[in-house]
Amino acid sequence: MLSDTNNKRAQFSTKIGVIATAVGSAVGLGNIWRFPYEAGSNGGGAFMLCYIFFIFLLGVPLICAEFIVGRSTRSNEIKAFEKLAPGKKWFLNGYIGVLASILILSFYSVVAGWTLEFFIAAVTGRMPSDMSELHDFFSEFISGNWRPLVWTVVFLLLNYLVVSRGVQKGIERLSNCLMPAMTLLLIAFCVNSLFLPGASEGVGFLFSPDFSKIDSHSLLSAMGQAFFSLSIGLGGMLTYASYFPDEVRLGRCATTTAVLDTFVAILAGVIIFPAVFTYGISPQSGPTLVFETLPAIFMNLPGGAIWAALFFFLLFMASITSTISMSEISIAYFEEEKKLCRKKATALTIGIATVLGAICALSFGPLSDIRFFGMTVFELFDYVSSNVCLPVGGMVTSVFVGWVIDRKIIDRQLNIRTNSLPWVKLLIFILRYIAPAAIALIFLNSLGII
Ligand code: TRP
Repeated sequence: MLSDTNNKRAQFSTKIGVIATAVGSAVGLGNIWRFPYEAGSNGGGAFMLCYIFFIFLLGVPLICAEFIVGRSTRSNEIKAFEKLAPGKKWFLNGYIGVLASILILSFYSVVAGWTLEFFIAAVTGRMPSDMSELHDFFSEFISGNWRPLVWTVVFLLLNYLVVSRGVQKGIERLSNCLMPAMTLLLIAFCVNSLFLPGASEGVGFLFSPDFSKIDSHSLLSAMGQAFFSLSIGLGGMLTYASYFPDEVRLGRCATTTAVLDTFVAILAGVIIFPAVFTYGISPQSGPTLVFETLPAIFMNLPGGAIWAALFFFLLFMASITSTISMSEISIAYFEEEKKLCRKKATALTIGIATVLGAICALSFGPLSDIRFFGMTVFELFDYVSSNVCLPVGGMVTSVFVGWVIDRKIIDRQLNIRTNSLPWVKLLIFILRYIAPAAIALIFLNSLGII
């Protein structure tokens, strides 16, 4: 099926496919790996409440904003801003999106590579079941000179294979099968975690908020996490929406995506924290938290290696449905603006990410002494993209849709014919005033400027 505009642009073929790809982009390592460690480092329950608050107050309206810009222009991010505001500087926001999405793709692929190592370790029976052995296994692995690097490259190559096949065949088909399987497995693990000895402590940590732990830094992290998890701020949802058919109801699709994404993040928290307290792991371990905790859960179950293999396989799949959406941001740009064929555009994107990803992969070992503001390259990429580029991109998009583009375009995209409905008025109010003010306030406050 082809689009209605001038060029023969690809489109997703079914409504279910649209939801599956949007949810596939949103649900990924952000929910299962990043959310638990951010929550663990920022005080647990209070962080989670702020996160959920940002998802619904700012996240849903911002997904709608990206959807509107994407579908009304059916273009890559840079062209989309240019089409809606010709001759103005808004397209610069598109460049931030393209650059930052490659940064995210680089460090994200390192962690996705870890899931492959764990999968193979489980399948080949190399995964230790003893807690301290597991700890050594993992720290030796990530600080190694070549294994993390190899897995990062393998992951990026697999990503290349899917994305280079194109929007419908590669992306849509994969997402349709994997998302339901992932969710079922998560629910099973969640039930299992609730029977662990540390369950009440873990659940208490996640569900009883202690607001004294919240400061401007953790607010910024909660907002960055909400944006990261929903794939907004850099044009991930914008690019996907440029492939949506006209019948898709954008408001409903945005809400469904946000609800399912949040559900998976909470499930991940309920799986991880009981185990963290059962096995005496520090909730503040950072990026390594989930990888040290999960195997401990599996290996103590009957048939542990099978559970571990299944889980890491699905986590890998959840990662790839997200990395294809990150890659698509710059691929669409290289294809349409630089006139490269799809294979070359994909190769260029993946090539840059491989070089940067290699540096990130080694930043837990041989390159761990290279630090900027006390952060390793991996941490720097994560911080700059999630806590700087995502909020800035989100703010610009919100102002753009709220103030700059024609109301008729918004109404048409949201399938409104006559007078605006109350929810559309609320959406525009949030995009005009609330979102820009909230993002600016939190951002400047955490920088110590106000
Ligand atoms: N949302 C994904 C996750 O939670 C990450 C992601 C995919 C993303 N595409 C993106 C983040 C585009 C920012 C921009 O794992």
